[in-house]
Amino acid sequence: MTRNPDLDRQARAILVRNDRGGYTVPTNGLYPFQWNWDSAFVALGFATFDRARAWAEIETLVSAQWEDGMIPHIIFHQQDEGYFPGPDVWATGRTPPTSGITQPPVLATIVRALWEADGADPDCPRMQRLYRACLASHRWFHTYRDPLSNGLVMVTHNWETGRDNSSEWDDALARVDTSGVQPYQRRDTGHVDAAMRPEQQEYDRYVAILQFGRAAGWDHRAIADHGPFRMIDVGMSMELLRANRDLLALAEAQGDYPVAGELRARIVLSERGMKWLWNEDAGAFCSRDATTGESSGLVTNASFLAFYAGVGNAAQHARLIAALERMAQSARYLLPSLEKGSRAYDHRRYWRGPVWLVVSYMVAQGLAEQGHADWAERIRADSARLIETAGFYESFSPETGEGSGGPDFSWTAAMWLAWCGR
Ligand code: DGY
Repeated sequence: MTRNPDLDRQARAILVRNDRGGYTVPTNGLYPFQWNWDSAFVALGFATFDRARAWAEIETLVSAQWEDGMIPHIIFHQQDEGYFPGPDVWATGRTPPTSGITQPPVLATIVRALWEADGADPDCPRMQRLYRACLASHRWFHTYRDPLSNGLVMVTHNWETGRDNSSEWDDALARVDTSGVQPYQRRDTGHVDAAMRPEQQEYDRYVAILQFGRAAGWDHRAIADHGPFRMIDVGMSMELLRANRDLLALAEAQGDYPVAGELRARIVLSERGMKWLWNEDAGAFCSRDATTGESSGLVTNASFLAFYAGVGNAAQHARLIAALERMAQSARYLLPSLEKGSRAYDHRRYWRGPVWLVVSYMVAQGLAEQGHADWAERIRADSARLIETAGFYESFSPETGEGSGGPDFSWTAAMWLAWCGR
């Protein structure tokens, strides 16, 4: 395939327009601050035409890293009344203000990609600084978010997963007590069609979990041990395993042998731990409740990150490919965030069906690495068609291809430039 110069131009223009000086907003209006994993993917897009700007995106993000190692999910660089919950609601007392939770740990993987594109110099100071930041963040996950000591990732808020309203969280969220939630005004539904956003009852639960963290003074130990939402997320577990492999490559390149040893041990632990997420009935790796041990039993786009993380045996891979085949038969565009026919499937509603290109990108990369180049190419081509048909939306209906959520979305533009538009 040859590049489409017009869409290339549009994609670059979106990144430049959403650039607020050292960081990029995901989209104007709906998300007016810096988001953690958005910035990581955005850096890949910038790297295709301005490598210095790509590094700066991540440097700005880690400049707000907490002393305990957590990289927050939102950094509120400036005031904006158009978003709820803003910095006053989070009340983390940080400068700059941040949220009190994190987001998917994809940063080390992206730092490695930027460093390799820049010539893979082991003495590169920008890589070395970000290497240390990623290491501190991975240690934070190991210290605070591995309650079962099996190398998997527990989340204490569904927003941490990035897959905010995936039905994987429904059962755990249903147990969250919302009686202490004071009246508040949502802002998201003022920007986009409410039919594409989480429902009100779900939002109340999100706010209740936030309030728990705030009341705990954002003490990450107390939140992990006693919080109202404790899910082992298949997506973040796979992403952290992959990120540990990439961080290991950076450690080895620098001759940092003690850290390399530490990371190798974490990798082995996670590879073994992942077996606990396999659900034989679903034929997929699924998220599980850390408190009840219950598996969601749901096949989502995150289940296919097994390829990206390099886990699963031949029989498990065959079951996953079978699930992909089923999805390809029931959807016009791969890769839906939830299989059609699953409970709560909705082709327009956020993470209950729509296609999200950043997850598709990671899945396609993993499939190509694990010998499934045909499936990787199918996902790439479908992703490109979605942008060609609908534009650079936040997400897309897998059935109609219609864009959903915010328009002129930074990470969608980045995915066009760095991956599917090639
Ligand atoms: C939102 O506000 O919907 C964001 O996804 C939270 O991170």
